[in-house]
Amino acid sequence: MPVEAVARAVGTPVYIYSAGAVLARLRELEGAFAGRDPLVCYALKANPNRAVCGLLARAGAGAEVVSGGELRRALAAGFSPRKIVFSGVGKTEEEIRFGLRSRLLAQNVESEEELNRTIAVARRLRLRAPISIRLNPGVEAGGHRHLATGHGAAKFGVAPADALRLCLRARREPSLELKGLHCHIGSQILDPRPFVAALGVVERLLGRLRAAGVRLSLVDVGGGLGVRYEDESRGPAAQTLGPARARLQPAALAKALAPFLSRWPDLGLVLEPGRFLTAEAGLLATRILYRKRIGTSRFLIVDAAMNDLLRPALYSAYHPVVPARLRDVDEVVCDVVGPVCETGDVLARRRRLPWLPAGELLAVLKTGAYGFSMASQYNSRPRPAEVLVEGGRWRVVRERESYRDLVRHER
Ligand code: LLP
Repeated sequence: MPVEAVARAVGTPVYIYSAGAVLARLRELEGAFAGRDPLVCYALKANPNRAVCGLLARAGAGAEVVSGGELRRALAAGFSPRKIVFSGVGKTEEEIRFGLRSRLLAQNVESEEELNRTIAVARRLRLRAPISIRLNPGVEAGGHRHLATGHGAAKFGVAPADALRLCLRARREPSLELKGLHCHIGSQILDPRPFVAALGVVERLLGRLRAAGVRLSLVDVGGGLGVRYEDESRGPAAQTLGPARARLQPAALAKALAPFLSRWPDLGLVLEPGRFLTAEAGLLATRILYRKRIGTSRFLIVDAAMNDLLRPALYSAYHPVVPARLRDVDEVVCDVVGPVCETGDVLARRRRLPWLPAGELLAVLKTGAYGFSMASQYNSRPRPAEVLVEGGRWRVVRERESYRDLVRHER
């Protein structure tokens, strides 16, 4: 599918996703854990577009949501409520109520006060709230300090000692149905070892619960499976379209978790990947507006900016950038920057790229996760369109915002 054809019809910047790539990742993950029949709950925050969610829902996946908005999107996209888990450190009473009324697989409770509120809401609604306790296992993991969620200083989950107490209390509470333990330790994890370490903490807790006569029905190991954004063997300046060789292989993760899983054969397994399913399935197409030099620096100024793709500015994240068509033009080392009025509005730093003129199209790769979902209207820039390629055809799955959309809610 020529990116140029989509860009000409829809304009730029535009996110383009491949349905086949998303589904292939789902199958790969399910396949790796096949013996265990895992429930893959797609973390909507990575890419909540309804068409993307619909694909995964139809393929049998569940969903992981962290807000009333995500829960509504998940239900609207067709995910079965019985396959939805609801996390979040700050669920409002309205969100707890909506979650309980929706009869989800489990609400992941992240503090004692949330447990109290959940009990109060469940009593008022006269129903039994299915819950898991989210454990903070005290494990460092993740690709960036903003992405680590499982260490003791992070706000997520409860400490192991508190988890034991909360589980025992939940067990005695008639308005609660204690389903299991949840832990999500971070994002962009490329090594199975932190998962194993976290499960070590989970396992100690499971043992103590069993000794107290409490048997759980599920363990949710969270998401965080990393993808390889750059080919590190060639250094960050190298461009590659080749396969990302060192993403966290599902088979390696499954193998690392196998000893734990074999010791707990009755536990249902939940995985919550977001990035793994959608990151590599998407690109951001953007047109060059200008070239310029300042001293020894060279810039390709493009029509996408940090409002469209925040990851490079927020996490110094690396995304490969390639010309949409091969060009016989001399390469230079340059920064790819957007029009937003911030020095940090750099999509790609110090890259070797053909010194292409205005009008040429670039593709910022591996932006199918946390791309559009973190986009904003900063600098009063309407958010870009989204396109889904499926079965050799493409269609717009979210229209480009208009200037009217910018002021729609203002009075
Ligand atoms: N489950 C929970 C409870 C989460 O908080 C998250 C992500 C996931 C699952 C999915 O994690 P994933 O498999 O996508 O790594 N904006 C950042 C990523 C933040 C992830 C937050 N939580 C980025 O652009 O890299």
